[in-house]
Order: sequence, then C-alpha cells, then structure tokens
Amino acid sequence: MENTIEHYIKLIEEINLHNYRYHVLDDPLISDIEYDTLLRQLRAIEGQHADWIRPDSPTQRVGSVISDKFTKLAHPNPILSLANAFGRDDAYSWFERVKKMDERVAKTSFVVEPKIDGLSVVLHYQKNVFIQGATRGDGEIGEDITENLRTINAIPMKIPVLANGSGAKNLLASIPETLVVRGEVFINNKDFEKMNKQLEEKGEKTYQNPRNTAAGSLRQLDPAITAKRPLTILCYQIVHHVGGEIPQTQWELLQWLKALGFPVSDAAQKFGTIDQAISFTESWENGRDKLGYEADGMVIKIDDQNLFNDLGFVGKDPRGAIAFKFPGREVTTRLNGIGVAVGRTGVLTPYAELQAVEINGVIVERATLHNFDFIRDKDIRVGDRVLIKRAGEVIPYVIGPVVDLRNGSEKTFEIPTVCPECGQQVEQFEGEVAWYCINLSCPAQILRTIEHFVSKGAMDINGMGIKIVEKLIENDSIKDISDIYTLNRAEIMSALTKRDRKTENEPPGKIAENLINAIDASRKQPLSRFITALGIKGVGEVAAKDLAEHFGSMDGLAAASAAELQNIEGVGPNTATAIVDWFDLERNQIVLKKFQAAGLWPVVVRKEQKEGVAVFAGLTFVVTGTLPTLSRDQAKELIESVGGKVTDSVSAKTSYLVLGENPGSKYDKAVKLNVPILSEETLNDLIKMKNQG
Ligand code: IVH
Repeated sequence: MENTIEHYIKLIEEINLHNYRYHVLDDPLISDIEYDTLLRQLRAIEGQHADWIRPDSPTQRVGSVISDKFTKLAHPNPILSLANAFGRDDAYSWFERVKKMDERVAKTSFVVEPKIDGLSVVLHYQKNVFIQGATRGDGEIGEDITENLRTINAIPMKIPVLANGSGAKNLLASIPETLVVRGEVFINNKDFEKMNKQLEEKGEKTYQNPRNTAAGSLRQLDPAITAKRPLTILCYQIVHHVGGEIPQTQWELLQWLKALGFPVSDAAQKFGTIDQAISFTESWENGRDKLGYEADGMVIKIDDQNLFNDLGFVGKDPRGAIAFKFPGREVTTRLNGIGVAVGRTGVLTPYAELQAVEINGVIVERATLHNFDFIRDKDIRVGDRVLIKRAGEVIPYVIGPVVDLRNGSEKTFEIPTVCPECGQQVEQFEGEVAWYCINLSCPAQILRTIEHFVSKGAMDINGMGIKIVEKLIENDSIKDISDIYTLNRAEIMSALTKRDRKTENEPPGKIAENLINAIDASRKQPLSRFITALGIKGVGEVAAKDLAEHFGSMDGLAAASAAELQNIEGVGPNTATAIVDWFDLERNQIVLKKFQAAGLWPVVVRKEQKEGVAVFAGLTFVVTGTLPTLSRDQAKELIESVGGKVTDSVSAKTSYLVLGENPGSKYDKAVKLNVPILSEETLNDLIKMKNQG
C-alpha cells in the first residue's frame, strides 16, 4: 500500500463518501466488511503518522471524555420554536392572520416537512469544517455537545461531503465561510428496536422510547457512549451565515443543504396554496408510521425566506410557520395483569395485560414493561390506570401509573421465583438487571431459539412460522435447531393445521414442499448467518459477521479462547465468556455434531487476491470527458476487466461517474443525482483498494 499523505487524504475522502452513502442516502456502495477494511487501512496509517491525522478523519469522531459538565455556547441567532395548530381550522386562521399582516402571504408558496420528535441541535461550520455544536437550551444559549455530535455519522464533518465537487461543484464558491445549520437529532424506530433487542439479549436494561434515549445520549459526558447509540439527524434551517450566498426559499434551502451532504427529509414537499399544504399534512395523519421515526405533526412553512423573516415572531414562535399537530397517541387504560414472557436466552420480560383500548385506529391489549426494575421504580401496580403510548412501529409501552386514580385495591407485583413456562427456579446474574430461567429444556426457550434460528436476519427459512414450529415441537419432530435439517415431508404434513392441509390438496403438498425447499435453500447461508442463528448471548448480526470474518470456520470459532475472542473488535468480555460457555455445553456440542452430520458446517470463501477479480461486480460506471492517460475505450476495458459495467447515460442507478476534462451534460446530471465522481486517478485507487480488501 502507498503510504503517502496524498493516499491518506484520499482514503479519508473515500471512507467519508461511503459513510455518507450509508448513513445519509441509505444506499451503500460497499459491504460493511469492505468498509471496515478501509477503516483498518486508515487506522494503520494514522498509527504510523500521528502528525497527519486530520479533523475530518472518520477516526476522529469519538473524542475524549468531558471532565465535568458541558460548557455553554451562545447561539448566533435565537433558536426559535413553533406555534401549534390543532386541525384544519387552526391552520387556516394562522394563514388568515399572517395574510392580514402582509399581502405577499396571499401569493406565497409553502413547504411542508415532518415535525420530528427529537432534539434540536445547532451545527457550526467554519471554512466548510464542523467546528462545534450545541443543544437548543433556552433558545439563546445552549450546551456545547460538540464531541457527542461528532459521533453521529450522518453529520458531515466537512462540506461538501462529495469530494471532487460532485453534487455541489457549482455551490463550492458560494458556501458561506461561517455556516450555522439547525437540525433535529433522533433515533429511527427500526434502529431503536434493534438496539433494545440486542440489550435484551445481553440481559441489560432496555430503553423506553426513542426520544428520551436520543436526549440522554446527547448529554453523555463520554462520547464513546453516545457513539454506541444509533443517533441520526435531519436538517432544515440555516441559523446564521457569514459570506457566501444562501438560497432565498425554504424549498431551495433544503435542496442546497442536501447537495452539501446534510441529511434532509425526503418527505418534505412544496405547495402553491395553503389548501394543498393542509391536505398534504392531513394525508400524513394516518400514514405517519411510514416515516420510520416519530413525528408529532407536520410543519407548514412559508417558502419565501424574506417574507418569513419580515413577518417576525411572537415570543419564541416565528409567524412564518406553524406546527400542525397530529392527534396524540397516549391514552390511559386499566392494567389488568402483568404477564412474563420467556426469551430465547431465558430472560424473563414482563408485559402489561391491558383493558383493550384504541389508539389511532389500532387496538392495544399488550404493552411492554421493559424489566422488573421499571415496574418497581415507577411503582406500577396491577389494577392501576396506566398511561400508555403507541409510537410508530415501536411496541406500545407503559409510561407510568396515574397514581391519583388509585382506590386501594391495586396490588404490587412480585417478581416470579419460578419460570412461568417450565416451573424451574429463576436466577439473576451479577451486574445484570434481567432475571433468567436457566433450564435449557424450558419449552419456551426452545421455541424462541428455533424462532430465532429461522428468522430473516439468521437462516431466513421462509414458511417456518411460529404455529408450525410449536406443532413440530409438540409432535417431537424437533427437539433442537439441528432437527430442522432432518425433517421429512410426513412430519411437516402432520404439523400443518387442518386448514393448511386442506389447501394442500390443490396442488397437493405445496406448503410442505415449499418449506422443504426453503430449508434446503438455507443450507447455503454464509457462516456469519449460521453463527447469528445459533443464538449465543450477546452475538447479534454484527458480532457474528466479525467472528465469521476472523475465524473463517465453525471449527476455528469453537476452538477460540475467551482471550482470543476479546481481541476482536465489538466482542467484549461478557460476550467472549458467553461464546466459550456456549461451546463448552455438552448439549450444544451434540447439536453441533448433528449439524455436521446433516452437512451444515459453513466456511468463509475468501476472495481471491489477484488482479483482475470482479471487485466492481454490481457497480455501474459512466465515463465522460477526456481522461489524462486512458482513452474512453481503455477506461471501459479497465472497468469491465474488474467486473464493472459501463453505460452511456447517467441515472440514479449509476454507481460512479468517471470525469475527465471538458465534460458534457452527463456531469450536470451526475451532480443533480448526487452520483459520486471519480477521476482517472481515484478510479485506479478504488480498484487497488478493492483488490486489497
Ligand atoms: S422549524 C424558525 N422544522 O419542533 C424555525 N422545527 O415545536 C422553527 N422541529 O423547536 C423550527 N422538526 O425543535 C422546524 N421540520 C422542522 C422540525 C422542527 C422538528 C422541532 C424544533 C422546534 C420544535 C417546535
């Protein structure tokens, strides 16, 4: 590998580009493993040349612990709030009010954006580099949370994000020297649930809701903790700028921020009339779950920034915008009982059995109670009226009891001393909040283990739903996960419900046949998925990938010591011990032998390292302009020789544009579509890098 500073800088740009594709565009060009390889190369260089390290290096996102408390940071302009409108009439009267103040309002357009339920933050850029950031605070002065904001991968450390001018070349000249951008930090519902699932697997405390978790994460004194939380951001305002030029309308401003590499909402839209803006807002009321994050309304903003500013503000609310609030999703209902579910690892999780209640069209009868500590800390009693919230796709959760409505008949809850499924003693391990059923033959655990084994992120066996698994266990056709691979057609047929068997007639045996095919297809799953599927405590998809990459085979993993395991990034001491313990258990050794006998013993097939392998497989290129050394045909040949495809026109599907002198309209199109741009030199680097990966 070249060890020059030029190569180092290029590597930073390359990684930052992939970071942007992944965290902002949600459209990665390379796999996690390829990304990690690049990052490792970068770390190796920085290890040898500490004096080269630049602030925009991805390794600089996690800084050191803040000693005491956050310092204050004054905002360059007040960080305003929003007045609320509840329903169509409210929104109209806002419009009528401002129209009376300024006749331009009658002809203005509007931008409607989701009102994200997160935390407002203020990001300062000086000469295109992120230098500091703050919370909103009281709107005048916030807290300096720079180090925590750095850990959020969606926040660009340097703008424009796309090097070589891609996406923003025509803007480069006009980026203000001082630029202060406002956005909302939050956690996507999917990421929140995933994080909670991982915590639950480790027996650690789960979080209650995305918003509070995001808030708590931003106020951590140790940025390494913040870095572990899946925070992201959407930006929507320029608070202040010195020099340069900024767009004069909200709509253009969103496009401009986007072109610079800031994440902006793709649900935002522009409308010519207030009627259209309101109708659009209302159309989101029932579809808000589709956003993937919590939004408590939509914001209707006057598009023209001069008009917006001229309208001024009342207190802390600008007159030029209004928050159209969605109906609340919190209700109270009676807590009829507290049930306890047994998870795959034996964790006992309490849940609320509720008097059925409707929340925005969905009937809720169950809600999570997180863990036993939560019930105790909130003093939740059976018979209480409880406040519950259903938010997005997140499982409904109990917020707390309405203490004033108690009548004395409520009963405090006792943590069970035996497993509700198998009746064996439960235990708590040192340092964990969770209680466990430690009986490995507990039917609930076996069921959950199989459910996990066949799930989408693991072996992905389509058609093996909970009902059929239950029946297969009941029939003794499955006693552990390895039995899945010796199931025969008769066993599957007798586990099908009557109704399923009926549909079996036309065409006969279809369901059983499909399932057998799906089981067979899962034999080809890679080692990483097989490791995930085993369901070892603390080993989720990410750790499983690292383990598969490191050991390359089941034999290697099974023989590893706790010390060796801990050397792998992302594997802590608890997980290392859990892995060793798992392989030590005789019961698991038997299961593994059965897997081997059934021909399931995956190994990692390593990529060949020689030149000319298809490192560009799946990528599409467009070449434009005159390249310094290669002719157009030679460039095409080069790309195709490593598996890439070359096409003539730029589209959203184009992976890279290779740019030479005097390009034509393809360049403009690529900029418009945010297609990353390579020079001949960076094209060669990319091939080299991919070959090394
Ligand atoms: S605009 C002058 N846009 O909602 C700008 N705010 O309840 C005023 N919020 O304090 C804010 N998403 O923290 C705006 N797309 C969005 C927003 C948004 C969320 C928050 C923001 C504000 C609060 C007001």
